[in-house]
Amino acid sequence: MTDIPKYDVLVIGSLNADLVVRSPRFPGPGETISGEDLQIIPGGKGANQAVAASRQGSNVAMVGRVGSDSFGPFLVDNLKTNQVDTAHVLPDHSATGTAIIVVDSNGQNSIVLSPGANAQVNKTDVDSAPDAKILLLQFEIPMDIVLHAAKRYKTMGTTVILNPAPARNVPEELLTLIDILVPNETELGLLTNKKVTDAQSAESAAKELLQRGVKTVIVTLGANGALLVTKEKSIQVPSFKVNVVDTTAAGDSFIGGFASKLLESNSLQFDELQNAVRYGCACGALATTKFGAQPSLPTKKETEALLNS
Ligand code: RIB
Repeated sequence: MTDIPKYDVLVIGSLNADLVVRSPRFPGPGETISGEDLQIIPGGKGANQAVAASRQGSNVAMVGRVGSDSFGPFLVDNLKTNQVDTAHVLPDHSATGTAIIVVDSNGQNSIVLSPGANAQVNKTDVDSAPDAKILLLQFEIPMDIVLHAAKRYKTMGTTVILNPAPARNVPEELLTLIDILVPNETELGLLTNKKVTDAQSAESAAKELLQRGVKTVIVTLGANGALLVTKEKSIQVPSFKVNVVDTTAAGDSFIGGFASKLLESNSLQFDELQNAVRYGCACGALATTKFGAQPSLPTKKETEALLNS
């Protein structure tokens, strides 16, 4: 008999202090412009996805590293406040990861990352991590660690979900270990070396990734929802009309919500995937209605209210 994993969702990934300034527009090269007051907000794709899933009611643990500065406890405390288990978020000698973010008047962002302690996540951290039903991975920790984690958890029978963000080239072997890949159009374009400009080109690029070993591809299309592509069928799931304030962490919100909904059905059949994608779209849309990364992530109650409206 196999043991039931203690956690619904395990995230092995990044924690960043987001240093955010709202500005009327993005500065050009060599240009200085004035924005609003600086805000320091808990972020990092890994930690955002952990909080997103936890707010949807999943039992979540996080594996990662923070530095020995004041940002470290700031980020860990926010995970704890959101009921994420932080026993495997370890201290490191380097600085905590930071993201320098500018948000323009349309709610679009531009981000520069300083990985800091995220670059120190290692194989021992992964090997001592707990079991879970779903593993969430992103690309803000070293690629060899992402690969190691995918291999380890695939062997354990965990559903492995990869958000290939920020966009990077991947080792082919990694694709064969992924149950569900969730790129945006830019990331999909880089992975396939194809121009992805609309749902049609996204579907053809996603199908190439299925050939290369991924089981399911979900392309997030921003305001146009998401495209679910499997070997059998494809469908575009529309998004929800909301007032956009800040798009930061919308993709993370989608993934956390999608994973939590998938756990309810405990199935990777097309209908259940489609239902979870719709739920993820609602979570992604809601995250754009509030400023910042983790403060913007919706609860289950908020998400259900939007879905029922
Ligand atoms: O996905 C949004 C996140 O990307 C931000 O919170 C920032 O930390 C960067 O990692």
